[in-house]
Amino acid sequence: MLSLCCIMALLALSCPETSGNTAGVKVKLTQKGLEYGRQIGVTTLLDQFKTIKVPDFSGSEEVSPIGKVSYSLTGIKVINVGLPQSEVALVPGTGVSLTITEKHANIFCANSKSPAYSYIKDEGENGSFDLAVSELSISTTVTIQSDDTGRPVVSSANCAASVGQTSITFHGGASWLYNLFSSYIDDALRSVLQRKICPLVSEAIDKMNPYLKTLNVLAKVDQYAEIDYSMVESPVISTSSIDLSLKGEFYNIGEHKEPPFAPTPFSLPPDESNMLYMGISAFTANSAGFVYNNAGALSLRITDDMIPSSSPFRLNTKTFGTFIPQIAKQYPDLMMELLVKAATAPTVMFTPNNITLQANATVTAYAIQPNTTLTPLFILNVDASVSCQIYVTGVKVAGNLTLNAVNMTLGTSYVGPFEVKSLDSIFQMVLKAAVIPEVNALLQQGFPLPAIGEMNLVNTQLVIMKDYLLIGTDVQFTA
Ligand SMILES: *[C@@H]1O[C@H](CO)[C@@H](O)[C@H](O)[C@H]1NC(C)=O
Ligand SMILES: *[C@@H]1O[C@H](CO)[C@@H](O)[C@H](O)[C@H]1NC(C)=O
Ligand SMILES: *[C@@H]1O[C@H](CO)[C@@H](O)[C@H](O)[C@H]1NC(C)=O
Ligand SMILES: *[C@@H]1O[C@H](CO)[C@@H](O)[C@H](O)[C@H]1NC(C)=O
Ligand SMILES: *[C@@H]1O[C@H](CO)[C@@H](O)[C@H](O)[C@H]1NC(C)=O
Ligand SMILES: *[C@@H]1O[C@H](CO)[C@@H](O)[C@H](O)[C@H]1NC(C)=O
Repeated sequence: MLSLCCIMALLALSCPETSGNTAGVKVKLTQKGLEYGRQIGVTTLLDQFKTIKVPDFSGSEEVSPIGKVSYSLTGIKVINVGLPQSEVALVPGTGVSLTITEKHANIFCANSKSPAYSYIKDEGENGSFDLAVSELSISTTVTIQSDDTGRPVVSSANCAASVGQTSITFHGGASWLYNLFSSYIDDALRSVLQRKICPLVSEAIDKMNPYLKTLNVLAKVDQYAEIDYSMVESPVISTSSIDLSLKGEFYNIGEHKEPPFAPTPFSLPPDESNMLYMGISAFTANSAGFVYNNAGALSLRITDDMIPSSSPFRLNTKTFGTFIPQIAKQYPDLMMELLVKAATAPTVMFTPNNITLQANATVTAYAIQPNTTLTPLFILNVDASVSCQIYVTGVKVAGNLTLNAVNMTLGTSYVGPFEVKSLDSIFQMVLKAAVIPEVNALLQQGFPLPAIGEMNLVNTQLVIMKDYLLIGTDVQFTA
């Protein structure tokens, strides 16, 4: 049951076999998408800053006229992180550059209740302090590559960080004394912080990898099929976008057999108004037809109960006897059953604003004997042309078929010769009333698109181009 539909929905295109890792699905991340990524990335980074552990910090300074003063700062914690300015830009061939600068406000302050410092020479008087850091600047390159599972992986390279100023103010205890030489402490602290930042940035960027690992490189569709969305090559980074080439191929679950056709190379248009563009090729759709056909899933039994009660005919030998008198004579008053089965994998064609599916099937008509034995009456070869409307629902693409045209020829007759043309209208009705709705019920469940984490699609548009389906969308992450 599952099948016919799936099939129709999915179809197989017979193209000459080509070699190489040509993509079946392409994904383009635009500047707008990158901008959204920046907001998420910088938020992650700032959260990371709050976990910064500044080591306990001690030293001594000569303070005239007192002499040598030792100090020890402990329990430095980040209690506030400002909202710095950040910028991302594409670095062709490499990844993305990220710069974070904060000129005016404090980036973070540290503060500790006593014991915060001790004046050891003075046998220890403890107080607290506030630490303000300003003029922070960080720049790094985020490289984007493909890991061995075909998922994107990011890492930080060429990180540079500088802290313009730290300013520490002591309270309580011998603060009057420490405030005298706080500028020395500032300098030492500044270099400690400066050394801490890049490892932290690297850690924050690494933290994005578990999210990227959620890319559904093997997206399960149903009991028969899964879609391989692994990257077939490393991402291509240009001055305006990051382009991913994904395999985009349906496979039978657990059995990865290649179809006798390969993707036709295609490229996405230069649109940039959405964050993300996905191109899904006719190859992807046709690999589905190949897979469902291989699984034997493209067949459908039609019985009278599937014909709407409003229909002007019933599925019985009386109805068919009107067109083929031998049937009414040889098999009077019997119900009938039709077995629709794909003869070849269906093929799908994407032309501008039009998806057409060509399905090649056989229909075997049976009389149902009182003892339930099925007696074959005839077999027809049916070539059907079907139009497909496609829409995006959730992070899935779904479809809805309408029948365009049907050509039928006689395969085998067990009841003597008859005029196939006379059955045209009744078969059109059967297809429209029973077969297409079954297929549509399946198609409406949709096929998963490539996705990362809890991704939602908003402002989504779908256009049918020559040889591929173009989805332009913005994304929102809920987790
Ligand atoms: C000050 O802090 C040091 C280090 O934690 C501690 O050993 C000392 O007892 C404290 N002194 C006072 C007066 O609290
Ligand atoms: C789509 O194309 C097919 C064949 O190329 C044609 O028969 C059909 O009428 C077209 N449908 C629309 C809605 O243009
Ligand atoms: C349909 O299948 C039959 C038998 O397999 C074949 O002869 C015919 O060429 C096919 N037609 C199309 C349109 O694929
Ligand atoms: C069922 O009935 C048909 C027609 O009367 C007969 O040909 C067939 O042998 C029967 N089958 C069984 C299993 O009884
Ligand atoms: C039906 O046959 C005609 C003539 O052979 C052909 O032009 C048309 O494309 C066929 N339609 C389908 C749905 O196979
Ligand atoms: C599918 O198409 C039919 C007409 O062919 C229409 O009546 C039906 O509402 C459509 N269903 C969806 C979910 O778009």
